[in-house]
Amino acid sequence: MLTEIGSDIQKAKDWLDCDELVAIPTETVYGLAANALSARVVAKIYEVKNRPQFNPLILHVGNKNDIGRYTTHIPDKIQALIEDFMPGPLTVLLPKSSLVPDIVTAGSSKVAIRIPQSHITLELLKNIKYPLAAPSANLSGYVSPTSPQHVLDQLNSKIPYILDGGQCSVGIESTIIGYDEKSQKIVLHRMGGLSIGEIEDRLGENIVLDITHSKPNTPGQLKSHYATITPLYLGDITQLYSNFSGQKIVIINYSNQKSFPVFKQYVLSENASDIEAAQRLFATLREADSIGADVILAELAPDFGLGKAINDRLSRAQHILK
Ligand code: TXA
Ligand code: MG
Repeated sequence: MLTEIGSDIQKAKDWLDCDELVAIPTETVYGLAANALSARVVAKIYEVKNRPQFNPLILHVGNKNDIGRYTTHIPDKIQALIEDFMPGPLTVLLPKSSLVPDIVTAGSSKVAIRIPQSHITLELLKNIKYPLAAPSANLSGYVSPTSPQHVLDQLNSKIPYILDGGQCSVGIESTIIGYDEKSQKIVLHRMGGLSIGEIEDRLGENIVLDITHSKPNTPGQLKSHYATITPLYLGDITQLYSNFSGQKIVIINYSNQKSFPVFKQYVLSENASDIEAAQRLFATLREADSIGADVILAELAPDFGLGKAINDRLSRAQHILK
């Protein structure tokens, strides 16, 4: 199958209507989308990505009214966040309605739903009669794609069409939240493109962190994920450097200062902007992984705003954790 890249919404719709998979742009990362209401087509997503069957998919809808069709209940605090942050890099975990096939939620009674903030994808969603189930459009376990070329690099000839929306503006996956009925608190399941601070400011209260990587409530939080093939180590670059002398070293950090020779250096953001660093993170990891280096040494991002999500992704890309 030839894979075409283009910005023809009608073509994307036609492929989806014929039960094919189409890669779609979102503000976070590219998704690998299918008609979420067809269990048979959703099964293809797991197959193409080589994704474990236990790892559920996010349902993408085009507007706030549609969320109500696929859930039985929206708590007030979640509704408030939907009003303020959707479309945007936020996913909400809610009790699923019977319209959602079990394969989308991997058997769970809860469904993850979001409205992506991409003009072209919102237009597509307006033109189709079903929501889209879509994980990130990478092979399972590898770094997520933030450009059509990234998608092509891994899924060439496996899907017919990549809808081109350019580079992703946010660059890391959506923040996933749920609701705990008992404490009546918002629970964070995955750090992502919407910072914890923004959510807490909106609610005027703290949220509860539920981010475990061993037996997570969101199975995609498993420890080894986002991993490059080239071994990646995270920590103090100068200290790490001494362990790899004589090797082809790539470093990823936040300032141009370095007192030693390296094969290649990537500065994620010259002025340590968490937003710019997030935008560039996955493209940088993919490039660093493709230039024939022996090892990638990365520095932690400053621990504020999106820096927390960046550090989560970097720590799961780490070699020693595998
Ligand atoms: O920004 C994003 O969220 C991107 C774009 C394409 O929308 N999508 C994305 O999908 O990151 P994926 O499949 O790579 O990650 C989805 C995460 C996984 O950790 C999965 O376990 C969790 O969401 N998830 C999805 N449905 C769930 C459910 N019903 N219960 C618990 N976790 C769920
Ligand atoms: Mg993913």
